[in-house]
Amino acid sequence: MLTLRVFLLCLTFNWCHGADLSNKFFPKNFQFGLSTSAYQIEGGWNEGGKGESMWDRYFHENTSRSLDGYNGDVTCDSYHRWEEDVQILKDIGVDVYRFSIAWTRILPDGTTKHINQEGVNYYLNLIKALRDNNIEPLPTLYHWDLPQHLSELGGWLNPQIATYFGDYARICYQMFGEHVKRWLTINEPKSTCLIGYGSINNAPGLELIGDGIYQCAYVQLLAHAKAYRIYDEEFRNSQGGVVSIALDHPWSEPYSDSPLDVEAANIENQFGLGWYAHPIYHGNWPQPMIERIGNRSLLEGYTFSRLPVLSNEDVEYIKGTHDYFAINIYTGYYTQHIDDYGVGEPSYWLDKGNNVFSDPSWPKSSSDWLTSYPEAMRKLLNWIKVEYNPAEVMVTENGWPDSTGTLEDQERITYMQGYLSNLLDAIDDGVNVIGYLHWSLLDVLEWNAGHTQRLGLVHVDFESANLTRTWKNSAYWYQNLLTTRCLVDNCQ
Ligand SMILES: *[C@@H]1O[C@H](CO)[C@@H](O)[C@H](O)[C@H]1NC(C)=O
Ligand SMILES: *[C@@H]1O[C@H](CO)[C@@H](O)[C@H](O)[C@H]1NC(C)=O
Ligand SMILES: *[C@@H]1O[C@H](CO)[C@@H](O)[C@H](O)[C@H]1NC(C)=O
Repeated sequence: MLTLRVFLLCLTFNWCHGADLSNKFFPKNFQFGLSTSAYQIEGGWNEGGKGESMWDRYFHENTSRSLDGYNGDVTCDSYHRWEEDVQILKDIGVDVYRFSIAWTRILPDGTTKHINQEGVNYYLNLIKALRDNNIEPLPTLYHWDLPQHLSELGGWLNPQIATYFGDYARICYQMFGEHVKRWLTINEPKSTCLIGYGSINNAPGLELIGDGIYQCAYVQLLAHAKAYRIYDEEFRNSQGGVVSIALDHPWSEPYSDSPLDVEAANIENQFGLGWYAHPIYHGNWPQPMIERIGNRSLLEGYTFSRLPVLSNEDVEYIKGTHDYFAINIYTGYYTQHIDDYGVGEPSYWLDKGNNVFSDPSWPKSSSDWLTSYPEAMRKLLNWIKVEYNPAEVMVTENGWPDSTGTLEDQERITYMQGYLSNLLDAIDDGVNVIGYLHWSLLDVLEWNAGHTQRLGLVHVDFESANLTRTWKNSAYWYQNLLTTRCLVDNCQ
């Protein structure tokens, strides 16, 4: 049945051709998968002994923060329906499932004074079911849902949170590490800091765009490094896994060949990805950030830089805390130099300067920030190789939002084809890309956009009592790709 359906869809939508797609096979050990996160998929926000997270508080204290009124209280209800989800993952045929552990299910107030066994059991059951179905579990320890109690201690502005995070990570390694070989510490730390601590649009909704965001990045790097080092020192020998951090960045390309635009694009890539990757791979903030933020801070009347100075001890502690490079890649932008704009209110956006925009010809998704520029995949992967030369790279997210959740999601398939073809080209270029995890399995809660942005391969009917899951065409397409491991009719 499925094969016939794939064949018919193939004819209808011309999937099987695609003249300009790579005709290489994906490498034998290449891992395909799907990604989700706890707050976006689980629901059960106060069940099974779970504590309150800063996202629970953020939506509950002001319902207008969600565009359509939906929040994470129920969402896809995977807290109760996880077995159905594992069955879907198995039927699609993925090698890897990336999900996140809700800190507040394991440690309700974020501290080790109480370990919630019911929460531990939830993830143990999920992880074992994945293993039983030959799906590798890839847990992210932190995907934005800080325990509310720790948020009240200052959240990611307080360096002590790194110690709490280390303690939480240790418990996860103890509880789940026997079954887990690949970990991620923090998902998209830049998004948390820029949007959560730099705008009202994400929890905790602070607007500290000139200074808090840099302190937040510093504390998240310390927390990541602590979780990495705890694994390295206490667990690696017995568990033999690998640990990294999932960074995100839209590839930034010079608008013209002029040296000013070339430098502008470099500044954009350094502020966007180097902000985190440079300390982890090279041991300090990228030089353009040190200089630009330092100079602007003095002009603004500060006696010191708004970018925290990393001590030698910090540099040594953070440097080298990576076993593989995990990157979320969705889109790209052109970058154009703009002349000095003078002193203004302290701000990340003024610190980096630059005019950043999409090409009008790139297909637009339902989200303002996301146009389809498939070459971004190849170009960013190559830039990562040049800048950091990681042994292995895994694409931990890539996805396409629409506002309807349509089952006839040809746009999503075209997007995936283009990006995956460019991923194969990057492998040809010599980048050791070992996996691709699509975002997302289901139409999960898209943070403050609620369900107005749908990114799942599988549709969820949020009006139905059973939160009915229905495969979109892209799910059938992905299922077929995972069998053929080839984007065209005949691969070499
Ligand atoms: C509630 O959230 C909306 C949307 O973010 C915002 O415009 C409004 O000011 C908030 N209201 C309060 C009282 O914080
Ligand atoms: C920062 O200021 C120093 C000293 O004035 C100057 O040499 C340097 O070019 C400036 N750097 C940037 C990026 O503005
Ligand atoms: C919802 O699920 C229950 C339990 O599996 C089932 O009995 C019921 O028929 C379902 N309802 C709908 C509308 O699908």
